[in-house]
Amino acid sequence: MRNFLSERVVGLEPSGIRKFFDIVSEMPDAISLGVGEPDFDTPWRIREEGIYSLERGKTFYTSNAGLKELRYEISEYLERKYQLVYHPCHEILVTVGGSEGIDVAMRTILNPGDEVIIVQPCFVSYVACVIMAGGVPVTVSLKEEDKFKLKKEQLEAAVTDKTKAIIISFPNNPTGAVMTKEELEPIADFAHEHDLMVISDEIYSELTYGHEHFSIAALPEMKDRSIVINGFSKAFAMTGWRLGYVAAPREIMKQMIKVHQFCIMAAPTTSQYAAIEAMRSCDDEVAEMRTAYNQRRRFLIHEFKRMGLDCFEPEGAFYIFPSIKKFGMTSEQFATQLLKEEKVAIVPGSAFGKCGEGYLRVSYAYSIEELKEALGRLERFIKRLEK
Ligand SMILES: Cc1ncc(COP(=O)(O)O)c(C=O)c1O
Repeated sequence: MRNFLSERVVGLEPSGIRKFFDIVSEMPDAISLGVGEPDFDTPWRIREEGIYSLERGKTFYTSNAGLKELRYEISEYLERKYQLVYHPCHEILVTVGGSEGIDVAMRTILNPGDEVIIVQPCFVSYVACVIMAGGVPVTVSLKEEDKFKLKKEQLEAAVTDKTKAIIISFPNNPTGAVMTKEELEPIADFAHEHDLMVISDEIYSELTYGHEHFSIAALPEMKDRSIVINGFSKAFAMTGWRLGYVAAPREIMKQMIKVHQFCIMAAPTTSQYAAIEAMRSCDDEVAEMRTAYNQRRRFLIHEFKRMGLDCFEPEGAFYIFPSIKKFGMTSEQFATQLLKEEKVAIVPGSAFGKCGEGYLRVSYAYSIEELKEALGRLERFIKRLEK
């Protein structure tokens, strides 16, 4: 029999996170600080709207782009929160999570051989989505000494005449770094100078601790060269509802909707009804979750310092990215040994790109009690290493 598999797919690296959690799932007494999803239940009023939609028999496909009512709410929300102005009928697409948003964005803009600059460390799907869309990923490595913020000079070193787009994500998974308006301005200048599209994954936009999120698409003349990806998973604790959205200029959206239509048809109907409520009236619930994450963030920063672990202070998302370089082990060795000896699961930084080597991604989407228990075990482990 011949080989039926696509070389492109066979060549993809499996997600470093999944590989690790396959081991964890076999260990019932392991504590995990690895998962990137809120530990909170979806706020009740959102769940209630989902249930109510089912009671009313709303079990049919919605329009391809998503419920009009939801798109109007998303449009108002983006303007109210981030000064982003998108037309609900022509510039917003409701997707199956931010994950689908990343995929359709790449497949809509890339021709074979187009290069996309991927700023690492970053979420695991960007490289794979670029490759699956026929593009070529070109990585740029962020540095701890720059507080994991992107510098224009780094992009200058990576751009070629084949570069078509850059993908950025702030607040960042896995570092927790954010970029302010002033820090994004040179990146926007770079996009103009080289005539590039910016794909901005803003899925953690609600989770900043200090300054408000700012979207690069809100800078002058950036809307036409930006694709903004966002969703309900992180802000509203709705990972399992599988709902996100993309905002993009009309000409791009006209094409993107075809990709979505032929692959997905429409995002889940129940989730869309529930999400209307999320957009409309859940600011207080989101603020409560943000306060809880912030307490945990401060607790971890304090504890890591006390334990002598070097740690960049994150300002967004729900991750912290301590350095383990001083132990002379790779992130994977450290994480594997920690899991074996103390049954604590933490994702190696290298799962987010080569430059994540020497770090761990600790998620604080866990209760303070779980964090305390896990940190106690981690401290014991570190003390043994230091002997
Ligand atoms: C940076 C980033 N983007 C996108 C996603 C995908 O989220 P979802 O598909 O649940 O909206 C994640 C999930 O962890 C993420 O961390």
